[in-house]
Amino acid sequence: KILSRRFNNNVTVETFGSSKTGFSLNSGDLDICLSFNKKTPTRVMDKISRLLFEEGMNDIRSIPKASVPIVKFSDPRSGLDVDISLDNQLAIYNSDMLKSYAQEHRLQQFVQMVKYWASRRDINEAFKGTLSSYAWTLLAIQHAQMIQPPLAPNRQIDFQSKPVSFQGTMYDVGFNNDEFMTKNKQSLASLLLSFFDRYATRWDWESMVVSIRNGQPLSTREKKWEHKGPLPLEIVTGADEGRMEHIMPIEDPFNHEHDLSRVVRAEGAMSIQNEFLRVIE
Ligand code: CTP
Ligand code: MG
Repeated sequence: KILSRRFNNNVTVETFGSSKTGFSLNSGDLDICLSFNKKTPTRVMDKISRLLFEEGMNDIRSIPKASVPIVKFSDPRSGLDVDISLDNQLAIYNSDMLKSYAQEHRLQQFVQMVKYWASRRDINEAFKGTLSSYAWTLLAIQHAQMIQPPLAPNRQIDFQSKPVSFQGTMYDVGFNNDEFMTKNKQSLASLLLSFFDRYATRWDWESMVVSIRNGQPLSTREKKWEHKGPLPLEIVTGADEGRMEHIMPIEDPFNHEHDLSRVVRAEGAMSIQNEFLRVIE
C-alpha cells in the first residue's frame, strides 16, 4: 500500500521466496518484487529507502549495484525482515517452480531441515559470503532427485515451454506441474544423513555442477565452469589475493549462466566445508 500510494499505482508488488514456495522456516524473511508498469523513476532505490524511513521502518540498507537491486529493512511492528527487489521476474518464476516441488510433503520437510541446519550454522547468507537459502534449497532438491527411489522429480523435462524475455535475454521458465507420487519411504532422518553423506564425502566440487534442471550433476568441464583462481585457504591465509570462481558450482534452473556460488567468499567457503566435516566426524 505504501509503495502503490507513493508511486501512484504505477507499480506491481508481488511476493516470492519462501513465503510463496512452502519452504519457509518461521524465521524466513519476506521477499517482495517491485516492478514499474510504466517507466522506472530515476534513483528509485533512494526514493524507496527514504519512503521506508518516513514510514518508521528500521535497519534500511540499499544495495543498488547488485545484479538485482535490493532494499532491505525490518518492520518494527511485525518484526519481519523484508527484502524489496526491483524487476526480479525470474525469481517469481523460480518460486512458482519451487512451490511445485514443495507439493511433496516429505520433500518440503526435508528442504526445511537443510535450510534450518544452514541457518543454525550461519552459512545461509549470500551477503556475508556464504550460500543463499535458495542455493541450499537447490542442493536439497538435487539430492532428492538422485536418491533411489527419487523423492523429487525433474520438473524441467516433459514440460510446456514458456519463453520469457528478461533484460534482453530469453529464458524458458516452463515446468511440469504434474503431481509426483514418490516410492521413496526413507525417514526424514535418513534423508538428512544421506544429504550430508553426498555433499560432504561423495560430491566432487571440482568436476560436478549441481543442476536440478538436469536431475543430476553436469560436468564443470562441459559447462566451462571449472574452478579458477586460488583455493579458499590460500586467500584466507593471505598466500594469494586472486579471485576464486566456481568454488561450489550450482546452476540456476532458469538462468543457466548463473552460478549461485558466485557470492561465496573464501571465509564462507571454508565455513561451509568445515560444517560439512563437523557433521560427518
Ligand atoms: N533468488 C534467486 N536467485 C538468487 C537468490 C534468490 O532467484 N541468487 C530468489 C528465489 O526465488 C528464492 C527467493 O529469491 O526463492 C528468496 O531467496 P532466499 O531468501 O535465499 O530463499 P528463501 O527460501 O526465501 O529463504 P528464507 O526462508 O531463509 O528467507
Ligand atoms: Mg526469503
